[in-house]
Amino acid sequence: MKNNHLLIDPWKIIENTFDKSKVKSSESLFSIGNGYMGQRANFEEDYSGNTFQGSYIGGVYYPDKTKVGWWKNGYPESFAKVLNAPNWIGISIKVNGELLDLNKGIVKHFQRVLDMQKGIYKRKFQIILVNGIEILVEVTRFISLNENSLGGIEYKLLAVNTDCQILIEPYIDAGIVNQDSNWDDSFWKIKSLKKTKLFSGLISETNKTKFEVCTYMANKLFYEKKVIDPLPIKSKSKSKISQSFKIDIQKGKTLKFIKIGGYVKTNVNFPKNPIEEAKEIVEKHIEIDFEKLLKTQIESWKKIWEVSDIKIEGDPKSQQAIRYNIFQLNQTYSGKDPKLNISPKGFTGEKYGGSTYWDTEAYCLPFYMLTKDQSVSKNLLKYRYFQLDKAIENAEKLGFDKGAALFPMVTMNGEECHNEWEITFEEIHRNGAIVYAMYNYLRYTKDFDYIKEMGIEVLIAVSRFWAQRFSFSRDKNKYVILGVTGPNEYENNVNNNWYTNYIARWCLIFTKEQIKKIQKFHFKDFSRIIKKTNWNSNEFNLWDEIIKNTYLPYDNEKKIFLQQDGFLDKELIQVSHLKKSERPINQNWSWDRILRSVYIKQADVLQGFYFFSENFSLEELKKHYKFYEPFTVHESSLSPSIHAILASRIGMIDEAYKLYLQTSRLDLDDYNIESDEGLHITSMAGSWLTIIEGFGGMKITGDTLYFENKLPKKWKSLSFKINIQGSLLEINLSKNHNNFIWKGDSKVKIIINGK
Ligand code: BGC
Repeated sequence: MKNNHLLIDPWKIIENTFDKSKVKSSESLFSIGNGYMGQRANFEEDYSGNTFQGSYIGGVYYPDKTKVGWWKNGYPESFAKVLNAPNWIGISIKVNGELLDLNKGIVKHFQRVLDMQKGIYKRKFQIILVNGIEILVEVTRFISLNENSLGGIEYKLLAVNTDCQILIEPYIDAGIVNQDSNWDDSFWKIKSLKKTKLFSGLISETNKTKFEVCTYMANKLFYEKKVIDPLPIKSKSKSKISQSFKIDIQKGKTLKFIKIGGYVKTNVNFPKNPIEEAKEIVEKHIEIDFEKLLKTQIESWKKIWEVSDIKIEGDPKSQQAIRYNIFQLNQTYSGKDPKLNISPKGFTGEKYGGSTYWDTEAYCLPFYMLTKDQSVSKNLLKYRYFQLDKAIENAEKLGFDKGAALFPMVTMNGEECHNEWEITFEEIHRNGAIVYAMYNYLRYTKDFDYIKEMGIEVLIAVSRFWAQRFSFSRDKNKYVILGVTGPNEYENNVNNNWYTNYIARWCLIFTKEQIKKIQKFHFKDFSRIIKKTNWNSNEFNLWDEIIKNTYLPYDNEKKIFLQQDGFLDKELIQVSHLKKSERPINQNWSWDRILRSVYIKQADVLQGFYFFSENFSLEELKKHYKFYEPFTVHESSLSPSIHAILASRIGMIDEAYKLYLQTSRLDLDDYNIESDEGLHITSMAGSWLTIIEGFGGMKITGDTLYFENKLPKKWKSLSFKINIQGSLLEINLSKNHNNFIWKGDSKVKIIINGK
């Protein structure tokens, strides 16, 4: 653990020291966003130390040309990357000619606070500059939840030990590069700069993808609470737009500077010139009343917390962690736009390219489905529907036909953009998670409209893929799936990954049921679908054959499903026997050694036991958990949560609790010493699942909701709400009681601890 310097507080993340080696990791941890745009917590003023500048706009990407050692047919031409966008937060400051830079001078106090309840980020520090002048700085920043394109900064400077002259230069800087560019391409082209007295805007366009974005700012100055309007000193460079003001301030007095800004991008649904729209935003806020903006921000977050808050009594560390996870998930995805999605690092870093992974369907969907309006999770499903044509093209590229679809493992616009063969071609289980998400949505919302109007096309296309991807083994007299990578990416090109075979078979069963339902109850839709997809009931013949004869590797002696063929040939040495210096193995072992070893990166067979728990007995679950957990290294952030849920189901609460902390405080405590690269946003949904489905034991079958009170020892009580079909269910569990409040007109059946 690297970050144990952060204070524990139920609603805040607090850092009270300035440590240059932690600047990058704190930039990730204190990130803010609103689902449309987001940014790392970079300092507004200049900083000459080690920093990772990052500000991102959802859906604005660049197809970076693929770079691989050896080209293989079927590889995607490019890797789509979210772009580091022009910086609108910059405020350069000189005090009597000396640059304000926390890397120089003596920092006397330093504090950052991220107020999760209010959605506001604050920073305060006192510094003696190299020229001996001491100043106190207080900064407040937010990204509006209410208005997609709006962010605001209040920057206060107090002269502590002497009168001085401040030169303050707010700017927009478009000379920004991505850290992970393959060929050092320039991703943006600056088209024009616009400047009026109040408004500054910079229009830039992404190369290749041609997204046009206006980065804008408007400023206001106050001296001792009075507005001042000094004559700006104009300056313009090719990639930067700025204006500076010189103000003399007296010892003990405060200069306050307010800056609003953000991004407006071209939008097909709203084809307005982005600069005009940015100007309208500025005109709307012409008064730049910061207090009013903060009030709106607090109200918007209040609405979010009203439904999504989780209260844990008796364990402040867990309490802080879950709120942090919920906060970051809300900052990453708002659900307003079906073209946007949830990237594993959200808006906090560049790894994973800002793209969509199976993480969305397998981990994130339940959080958004049960804490937000139904339209939000429906938009997540629609995202894949809108990309179906590309998924069909993708499968065609690999040699499949007749409308079979393989959704990409990593995507921005529907095209595959991951380019390692073992993931791109082999990690096909992602097709299953997309179907599982539809099933999950259906069983919780009871909304069949999505499936009959759109989803059924996805189901048919995915099932066609599976039907072609299974092959018949004469030796086994069964249908097998050869050459895959399962969720455990520490095995490649294996035959019969149990999880993949299982979910593929299940997809066929589920699709069949949905087709039959539509045929019986929605005949008009059925005719349309038949026509559109060219579907023919003869397709059921092969599906049925496969369903009846799917090969699922099993060991009769141990009575367990095997992760893949030949799993038991491995040396079965448990993780506890590995030396500490060898962990994580992905940083200490050769890839060859990892592949031959028994070690499991993340839940694999157990992922299947989690998804399809109703199909296995508690005894079977126990057996499989006890067999696989000791070989699991949890080197994917997605892993501990699934193990935690299963451990609670089988009553191993202490172990579940340990795994829960590992997930929920992964970034706060920097378990993997990598939070400087950005946060693990999608695994944060796993923390939420651990509480709701693990310690709260929630499940749904038909019309019945099940809960199990499995609170960790330390927890006095656990309270949360879920939004079921537009009605709220409040759940309060403690050692002595289980209370439920149903705020809906319809009836709901709840079984708690079997009663
Ligand atoms: C995991 C994948 C996951 C990806 C993005 C990888 O380390 O193995 O399952 O989709 O990270 O979170």
